[in-house]
Amino acid sequence: MKAVHALGFIGFTAFSVRGQAALYAQCEWLGWTGATTCDNGADCNYKNDYYSQCLPASATTNTASTCGASRPASAGKLKYAGVNIAGFDFGTDTNGDGSASSAYPPLPQYYGADGPAQMAHFVKDDKFNIFRLPVSWQFLTDNVGTGTLNQAYFAEYDTLVQACLATGASCVIDIHNYARWYGAIIGQGGPSNEVFASLWNSLASHYASESRIVFGIMNEPHDLPNITLWAQTVQAAVTAIRNAGATTQMILLPCDNYSSAETLVSDGSAEALSVVTNPDGSHTNLVFDVHKYLDYDSSGTSDTCVTNNIAEAWEPLSQWLRCNGRQALNTETGGGNTASCEEYMCQQIQYMAENSDVILGYVGWSAGNFASTYVLSETPSENGGTWIDQPLVKSCMAPSVNNLVA
Ligand SMILES: *[C@@H]1O[C@H](CO)[C@@H](O)[C@H](O)[C@H]1NC(C)=O
Ligand SMILES: *[C@@H]1O[C@H](CO)[C@@H](O)[C@H](O)[C@H]1NC(C)=O
Repeated sequence: MKAVHALGFIGFTAFSVRGQAALYAQCEWLGWTGATTCDNGADCNYKNDYYSQCLPASATTNTASTCGASRPASAGKLKYAGVNIAGFDFGTDTNGDGSASSAYPPLPQYYGADGPAQMAHFVKDDKFNIFRLPVSWQFLTDNVGTGTLNQAYFAEYDTLVQACLATGASCVIDIHNYARWYGAIIGQGGPSNEVFASLWNSLASHYASESRIVFGIMNEPHDLPNITLWAQTVQAAVTAIRNAGATTQMILLPCDNYSSAETLVSDGSAEALSVVTNPDGSHTNLVFDVHKYLDYDSSGTSDTCVTNNIAEAWEPLSQWLRCNGRQALNTETGGGNTASCEEYMCQQIQYMAENSDVILGYVGWSAGNFASTYVLSETPSENGGTWIDQPLVKSCMAPSVNNLVA
């Protein structure tokens, strides 16, 4: 199936043995002599005289959603595409455990990978324009449950942030703590909302004048006892960021269930977080933070992809966002460097671009300090000044290849 992607997502060769076009394959065009019907009950959906595509029957009937808002007729371009540059988060687990000493800065002066050079390559050669820079709360405060930054450790993290800004890209500050501090949930038995807000006040004060800084309030909250209380925690952080002088930058609102794009609406996160506002009462640049992997259990731990997430996640989420006048950014997605992941990832990105009025973009997991042998590695290798990307980046995720990012 690799050849399909080399031809720019148009499935000239994507036919099933039954002679019907496969889901998301091309099914008809002017002068087309191939299959004109789709298998598995999909509909051949006319786009223009040169291109029709097999889409799920539900997608063709539901483009006008229940609220009456339709997605734009012409496929748009995504605003953002990028890569996570991991390392400052290393040692943090889903329980919010971790320690400053287990972080592994993706900076050569700390014996890590050359994150700055990776980002420069990703911008120059692949046309990526956003990086997410995960860091643990423990690292920023040297294991103290406070909002006061440890200046020495923060200077290390800021080195990576400044290298990101120097590429011209947008840079997401991501607190990678799963809504927790050593097992206790922020605002629900763990650190108070005031303490968490003071952490964000410290960070936002530092970056208040940087328009390309994005504030990622929290990575992957999960098993929250009370989503209404979590929304209050998020509100405290948003208010702290805005009051620190970062009045216009994008802020990412983190939902329950590991920020699953599939359950943002159904688990009540979307409704609960909808009440979070800027101090002026608006929702301007308050964007839902969603994640989605493509393996069998959505965990991003297998190198085999089994879904493009369209029917179960992106289609219903897009409709909800459109109906409610909101937007989302997919800050973690990825797959193995395998044929199945190349196929499904390309389809996922294509669909997100078709819904770019409400889905702003995607950030792949992960480069930085991950080895090239890591199952979801997007870490490029460098040889004599020439960079070589991982297969999934090269075939699908790089904007220079998919041409789906503005
Ligand atoms: C969640 O917290 C809110 C605010 O304190 C409260 O009104 C509500 O009953 C709680 N919900 C649950 C399920 O405990
Ligand atoms: C969380 O989301 C995944 C898909 O991303 C889904 O399979 C799972 O059932 C969800 N869990 C809960 C508790 O909603």
